[in-house]
Amino acid sequence: MRYEWSEEYNTGNKKIDEQHRMIFDAANVLFDAVKQGRESVVLDQSFNLLLQYTNTHFRDEEEHYEEIGSTLLKMQKEEHQRLLDELREMWREKRHGSSDAGTDLDHWMERRLIPHIIKEDTRAQKAKK
Ligand SMILES: [Fe+2]
Ligand SMILES: [Fe+2]
Repeated sequence: MRYEWSEEYNTGNKKIDEQHRMIFDAANVLFDAVKQGRESVVLDQSFNLLLQYTNTHFRDEEEHYEEIGSTLLKMQKEEHQRLLDELREMWREKRHGSSDAGTDLDHWMERRLIPHIIKEDTRAQKAKK
């Protein structure tokens, strides 16, 4: 498995942690499909699943931070938007053949999503008014 879940990624909220794991699962499926050179219809399906899981998760998470009155809600919303834009951009570039989707996915997972989970999601969870 490319992206391995680690206990240190737990934020302290069960539903959020489960959704994060689903994003990891979807990213692994996409990574394998890219590496195996699957046909583009399969790649697009895998990508759309990852995008959908991520999008749903971000919306649920924002709702949750709103409910608990997290002071970091606005920052979360902005960062979620950026992360989604980067994910879409990655796929656009891949379609144009100007990038390697496996490398870009690694970058997004390891330098963007995982640090967001470890630092910002955990912080937002505790930042109650
Ligand atoms: Fe999250
Ligand atoms: Fe988040």
